[in-house]
Amino acid sequence: MFITFEGIEGAGKTTQIRYVADYLTAEGHQCMITKEPGGSAIGRRIRAILLDPANRDIHPLTELLLYAADRNQHIQEMIRPALSQGKSVICDRFHDSTVVYQGYARKLDTGLIHELNRQVMADLIPDMTFILDLEPKIGLQRAWQEVNQGTRTDRETRFESEDLSFHQRIRAGYLELARQDPARFIVIDSAQDEDTVKKEILQALTDRLAALEQ
Ligand code: TMP
Repeated sequence: MFITFEGIEGAGKTTQIRYVADYLTAEGHQCMITKEPGGSAIGRRIRAILLDPANRDIHPLTELLLYAADRNQHIQEMIRPALSQGKSVICDRFHDSTVVYQGYARKLDTGLIHELNRQVMADLIPDMTFILDLEPKIGLQRAWQEVNQGTRTDRETRFESEDLSFHQRIRAGYLELARQDPARFIVIDSAQDEDTVKKEILQALTDRLAALEQ
């Protein structure tokens, strides 16, 4: 099973992914938690370039190609091997991030984005995708608070430094994707407390698993 998590900065993906992995492990699944960008060793080097706030001059097309390069390496080296060993893979961001960040927010050619994703992913589509939906103002506040407290590195803040309208386009983009494909996406209100978010995710997960097994 391949599960992805999406959302704006500060939506709480990392915490909730851990809960899902704990739940699946307790149910007898072997799980691999991974993320994009930076799920492979080569990807971690690409991630450092992509998120470094000093790289203000990165060209939007360069940015897109680096995300595609990271994804290709990640799929080949990590995701496909794990799935073929029967593991469940839980990924913090995947191709929907590219559609939303580089497409909806940066306004790059959506045809090119879909073609790159098609080349890199082939038949690999997530079985379910959780969108942790949150007002961008709250998400950015949370993200910067983590940077200031030292629990999030200040060397990866290139996207947090974008203005509010950029993050609003991202949120709207995710909600539009969810509207187009309700069979894959599950939207969770991430402004709720952590425990309520966890309960809603696990409920949706068990419902989907039961449906998949039928
Ligand atoms: P994160 O790992 O802290 O979520 O940071 C990853 C950043 O990269 C986040 O701001 C979203 C952005 N991103 C894209 O712009 N396009 C992509 O395809 C992916 C995977 C992430």
